[in-house]
Amino acid sequence: MTDTYTRLANGPLRAAVKALGLPNPVPLRRREDGDYLSEPVLVLGPGAAADAYAQLLLDNGFEVRRKPTSEKLSAILAFFDEATGPADLSETALEIGGALRGLTRCSRVVIFGRDAHISPERPEAMDPALNAVRNGVQGLMRSLAHEMRAGGTANGIVVSEDVPMDAPSAIAALWFLLSSRSAYVSGQPVHVTTADGAPVTAEAFAGQHLAGRIAVVTGAARGIGRAIASTLARDGARVIGVDVPQAGDALAETMNEVGGTAVQLDITAEDAGLAIARAVGAPIDILIHNAGITRDRMLANMDAARWDSVLAVNIESQLRMNAQLTEASAWGEAPRIVSLASTSGIAGNRRQTNYAASKAGVIGMVAASAAELSAQNGTINAVAPGFIETEMTAKMPALTRELARRVSSLQQGGLPVDVAETIAFLASDAAGGISGDTVRVCGQNMVGA
Ligand code: NAI
Repeated sequence: MTDTYTRLANGPLRAAVKALGLPNPVPLRRREDGDYLSEPVLVLGPGAAADAYAQLLLDNGFEVRRKPTSEKLSAILAFFDEATGPADLSETALEIGGALRGLTRCSRVVIFGRDAHISPERPEAMDPALNAVRNGVQGLMRSLAHEMRAGGTANGIVVSEDVPMDAPSAIAALWFLLSSRSAYVSGQPVHVTTADGAPVTAEAFAGQHLAGRIAVVTGAARGIGRAIASTLARDGARVIGVDVPQAGDALAETMNEVGGTAVQLDITAEDAGLAIARAVGAPIDILIHNAGITRDRMLANMDAARWDSVLAVNIESQLRMNAQLTEASAWGEAPRIVSLASTSGIAGNRRQTNYAASKAGVIGMVAASAAELSAQNGTINAVAPGFIETEMTAKMPALTRELARRVSSLQQGGLPVDVAETIAFLASDAAGGISGDTVRVCGQNMVGA
C-alpha cells in the first residue's frame, strides 16, 4: 500500500507542507539502510550503569561522548536508575533537552530506569518518592517521544529491582532500540525482569542471531505473518508456516520464498497444537501466534457468529495450542512465544468489542503465562501493532485511513516488517530476560493509551 501523502510531502509538495505546517512524515530508516547510525552517541546521567554502557558502546565500535557537545549525534542514552526522588530528574532531563537539536535524522533516545512497581511484599519498593520518580521517568520518556522530529524515536528500558542494569536482555534491547529494526517503535518501555538471556554484541545482534532455531508462524500466507516468516528466515531460523487450506497457494509461495515448510491447518481445530508438533517433528524453539481475524460490528448489532469466531481464532486457539505443546513436551531448550495483540486491545476501538476483547485477552494471557514458560527456560510476550500498511488496512475508507496514518508521533503507518523485527528481537536468545511484556509497534499512536 503506497502512502502517497508521505511521497508528495518529501517530494514536490515539500515547500507547501512546510509553509502550511502540515504533517511532515519522514521516510524511516529500515534495515536495508544499515543497522546502526555512525554519528556519536551521547551518554548522560550519573552512576555506574551510565559508565558501564559508555564502555559497552565503545567496545562495540560506537563513538561515545559523555558531555554535551556541538557535534551531530545519532543517539542519546540517559540513565535515571539511581534517582531516589523527583528532584533527581531535572539535571539529566535538561541535559537531554539541550542535546536534542544536535540529533540527526531517524535518531534515537533511550532512557534507562528502574521499575516503578508497588509490591506489598517489598516494603522498600513502596517509598512514594522513589516510586514517583521511577514512574516520572516514564512520563518524561513518553512525552519526549511525542516531541521527537525527523523520524526520531524515544523509548525506555525498564529494569526490575534485583536485575543488573547491564543484564543481557537490557543490552539486547539497547541494540534493538538503537538499530533501524525499531523504526516504528516509539514511546514504549521494554521491561527487563530477569538476568536471563545470552549476551550478544551489537554486530551479532545485527547478524543471523536465530541461526538453527525452528520457528512456527501461524497466518504466514500473507500480510504481517508473511513478513514475520521472511524476517525470521533472514535471521537464520528454519520456518514452518501455518495457514488455512483456502490460503494454501499463497502459503506455498511464501514458504518457497523463505525456504520454509508449509502446513495447511485451521488453528481453531481442537488438536491444532498436536498437529503442529507432529508436522514439525522436532523441538519448537519459536512460536509466533500471528493468525488473526476481524469481524467488526457495533455491539448492538453483534451476532454470535462474529463474536465467537474472533475469540476462537485470536485467543482461544492460542491458549489451547500453548497447553498442548507443553503437554506434549514439544518445546526446544529455551522456547520463545510471541503473540499478536493490537493497540485496539489496549485503547479499545469502536466496532471492535469482540476484537479488542480477544487482543486484550492476548495481553492478559502472556502476562499470566510468563511463570509457566520460565519453568521451561522460556519466555512469552506480545507485540501490539497500531496502523500497519496491509491488505486489511488498505480496505479502510480513504479518509479514515489517512487520519489513522497521521495520528502517530511518526505521522505515518508502519510496515509489516516493523512488527516482524520486534518479534525477531523478542524471539532471540538474548531476550531471555523479557517475559510477560507487551511491546507496541505503533509509531506512538495517539489514539487511546
Ligand atoms: P491478514 O488478514 O492479512 O492475515 C492473517 C492471516 O491469518 C491470513 O493469511 C489468514 O488466512 C490467516 N488465518 C486466519 N484465520 C486462521 C485460522 N483459523 N487458522 C490459520 N490461519 C488463519 O492480517 P494481518 O493484517 O497480516 O494481521 C496479522 C495479525 O496482526 C493479526 O493477528 C491481526 O489481528 C494483527 N494486527 C494487525 C494490524 C494491522 O494494522 N494490519 C494491527 C494490529 C494487529
